[in-house]
Amino acid sequence: MKRQTIIAPSVLSADFSRLGDEVEAVVHAGADWIHLDIMDGHFVPNITFGPPVIKAIRDRTDAVFDCHLMIAPADPYLQAFAEAGCDIITVHAEAGPHLDRSLQAIRGLGKKAGVSLNPSTPENVIEYVLDRVDLILLMTVNPGFGGQAFIPAVVEKVRRVRAMIGNRPIHVEIDGGVTPATASLVAAAGADVLVAGSAVFKGGDKEAYRENISAIRAAADAALGQKAA
Ligand code: DX5
Ligand code: ZN
Repeated sequence: MKRQTIIAPSVLSADFSRLGDEVEAVVHAGADWIHLDIMDGHFVPNITFGPPVIKAIRDRTDAVFDCHLMIAPADPYLQAFAEAGCDIITVHAEAGPHLDRSLQAIRGLGKKAGVSLNPSTPENVIEYVLDRVDLILLMTVNPGFGGQAFIPAVVEKVRRVRAMIGNRPIHVEIDGGVTPATASLVAAAGADVLVAGSAVFKGGDKEAYRENISAIRAAADAALGQKAA
């Protein structure tokens, strides 16, 4: 079956003083989704933004808002993120003791539910929630910062998770250190959504964004044996 790779730029590497313009620019440059990294200074050693900022940029595009919550606890804030305009809400398996409850809550809010695993977390922790998730986000860096080096050991986990999913309609998303070179590795292993922050926003303008997104997409397509568009 022909699988289309979804490219989701992380705005963590955007110019925050012009966030709405940056979101529009990457969508015009070929991005499929917008990846929003929410950090709380507790689950991860960095702080970003929350629902008001997401709400402020929501009307700048129709693109899917893919919200990656690196916060603990996540449950008290799910409704606020849903109301701010997130389409997919992803929680970390490591962020709380009741993953099943969190995933049910997200779907209960009418949103797609995602679960994320840190690089060192084994995939068996999601074995019993596969029927409750729409997306599995495998971290290929330790979460907290953009611009870190890709952790190659996770490629094998991508393969295992893809096998575990079987025929279920679940996205496998990779986040951290994605470049054209690493995109081909993870696409070949079974990832269909690629988050990229620094590799998309380098260059700082629309033309650069278009080239950067095309290079990642071409590498992923080539790894899947498909002709790049
Ligand atoms: C890391 C974030 C990533 C990050 C990716 O905690 O979840 O989305 O911004 O940035 P790059 O692509 O620069 O590794
Ligand atoms: Zn992320």
